[in-house]
Amino acid sequence: MTMDHDTRSDQDPPGAARLGSVGTVQRFGDEPLDVRETDHYTKEYVQTFVEKWDELIDWRRRYAGEGSFFVDQLRSRGVRSVLDVATGTGYHSVRLLEEGFETVVSADGSPEMLAKAFANGIEFGGHILRVVQADWRWLNRDVHGEYDAIICLGNSFTHLFSERDRRKALAEFYAMLKHDGVLILDQRNYDAILDDGFSSKHQYYYCGNDVVAEPEHVDEGLARFRYTFPDKSVYHLNMFPLRKDYTRRLMHEVGFQHIDTYGDFQETYSDSDPDFFVHIAEKAYRPDEDI
Ligand SMILES: C[S@@+](CC[C@H](N)C(=O)[O-])C[C@H]1O[C@@H](n2cnc3c(N)ncnc32)[C@H](O)[C@@H]1O
Repeated sequence: MTMDHDTRSDQDPPGAARLGSVGTVQRFGDEPLDVRETDHYTKEYVQTFVEKWDELIDWRRRYAGEGSFFVDQLRSRGVRSVLDVATGTGYHSVRLLEEGFETVVSADGSPEMLAKAFANGIEFGGHILRVVQADWRWLNRDVHGEYDAIICLGNSFTHLFSERDRRKALAEFYAMLKHDGVLILDQRNYDAILDDGFSSKHQYYYCGNDVVAEPEHVDEGLARFRYTFPDKSVYHLNMFPLRKDYTRRLMHEVGFQHIDTYGDFQETYSDSDPDFFVHIAEKAYRPDEDI
């Protein structure tokens, strides 16, 4: 029997309140396909799902899958300070600290995620993460300083459901970068899913072996993914299916000057092949560039 954490409309189990403000049960209501709101992410990363996130995102496999791509990109630009705006359970924040980056600030809108990240920082290398709870739409209000780089990884930007929120978030990222700073933001290849359907080869590259992640519903305004864990528990995430060129256009429109988009960490690819795209958006003005 599967335990579906989405469809339950009951109360949290006794004692759940102490686990965090959103409790332990995902709630999408009677019409889960109608849930298309930016604010809903805080209700999706419930405590029990957060606890399982590192089973889904197997850190060792991820290390092997990503290699040194992000570290190399940051180092080649002389980056010393990084703001991780979608810290989640802390994988990239910890990785960058391990690699010796001078300043790493770990922000996220979910206190449940940040608590897990903080614990992971101590567990993996004894790092005290500098965690800040902040929603991207009000990032400048809650996080201080200017950074050489901002990273928004793990298909996080997909949680924003309105163009207004996407523009506001990108503008906040832009404002927190130094004059020659860089934003690294990744996304699933939704073009392939929308246009060709989901194939089994399009798995999360960083998925744990025993977790099945698959889209349950996809239309131009919603990609609803189901995550099934070995203990048969089931969770969902409702996300906005960002088309690659749309994301690039928004980045240009808020002011980013030069954007390189990699497909599964490669410079050359055919558009339908990669699982993930990584956008590397530079703020520095290039007088000769036609954008
Ligand atoms: C898919 S998880 C990825 C986490 C991590 N980067 C990783 O790769 O494992 C998305 C993260 O983005 C955060 N998030 C989503 N929308 C947000 C928003 N508007 N403001 C701040 N954080 C947000 C969620 O709380 C969650 O931790």
